[in-house]
Amino acid sequence: MRKFLLGVVFAVFVFLSGPAGLETTAARAGEAPIVALALPTQQEERWVRDMEAMMEAAEAVGIDLRVQIARNDQMQQNAHIEGFLNDGAVVLIVAPHDAEAAAPALKKAGEKGVKVIAYDRMLEGPDVDVYLSFDNVRIGEMQGEYITSLVPKGSYVLMSGAPTDNNAALFKEGAMRFIQPLIDRGDIRVILDQAVINWQPTNARKITENALELEGGRIDAILAPNDGTASGAIAALEARGLAGKVPVTGMDAELAAAQRVVRGTQSFTIFKDTRELGKKAIEIAFLMTKGEDWTPLTGGATMKNDVKDVPSVLLSAHIVDKENVDAVLIESGYLRSEDVYNK
Ligand code: BGC
Repeated sequence: MRKFLLGVVFAVFVFLSGPAGLETTAARAGEAPIVALALPTQQEERWVRDMEAMMEAAEAVGIDLRVQIARNDQMQQNAHIEGFLNDGAVVLIVAPHDAEAAAPALKKAGEKGVKVIAYDRMLEGPDVDVYLSFDNVRIGEMQGEYITSLVPKGSYVLMSGAPTDNNAALFKEGAMRFIQPLIDRGDIRVILDQAVINWQPTNARKITENALELEGGRIDAILAPNDGTASGAIAALEARGLAGKVPVTGMDAELAAAQRVVRGTQSFTIFKDTRELGKKAIEIAFLMTKGEDWTPLTGGATMKNDVKDVPSVLLSAHIVDKENVDAVLIESGYLRSEDVYNK
């Protein structure tokens, strides 16, 4: 028996180290250009979807994609970026935790002639080559427009995303274009207006609990910038038997959010097709690795960072409420009906 097992182990070894296996390894190590992906977190489901889309697209075009995920910590992400540069990455795709604090690591990339793609969140400084995201101010407008049409008068809790995240300010700016005029008119009264540190659902829950405490349980609407913060707010409402009675916004089309939307505890979410964003990043990175012109893929658009106009691609997003969950999320294959409806 023992002899037989040894034989099997030997056969497997020979098979793995045979000429075909060696060739593949050599091709990978020697030829495939290294593209590096630095993500800020996987706290939200969307970042997992982005990563999967990029891995699939990279494999299809023969890119060696290296991935590191920071835990909402820029020091950690800067170390990841430096590691990628040492490994010989020729393109960096970075979704920063804190764009300002990422600048020193990016400077090193710039000095080495490594191309830099700001992914979903803008990067600061001169070393960013292109920015790929969604129209984030427009997303904020969608949130503000929808919630004010549901609740044109009353008391609001306003939350914004992490203060370290440039997107958080863009979402809030868009939402306030609809909310501020109603505050000025005296129709909307703001109970609390707070940023959610690190976008953490537990922080959003605390903010909502405080507001409920202050108002003796009477709140008319909650602006939650994404589905994670919406989940925290809704947990606080649920504890008081108020879930489904107070409109709450969201964004990201997370599965749990889609479930809350069909159950009626969250008013809507916003679908940003991260599969498309991921594919676009790899398409551009691929051209960059070959030294080819990638600018036609941006269609000529630009967005300002702190020092320059950055060539940009901004994809559009879609409101998803009870009426169109099937048409937008399920028919597009983003979520499965049996999961959304818990069947
Ligand atoms: C992204 C959102 C995400 C949030 C928290 C933002 O920059 O645009 O989709 O929910 O970060 O990770």
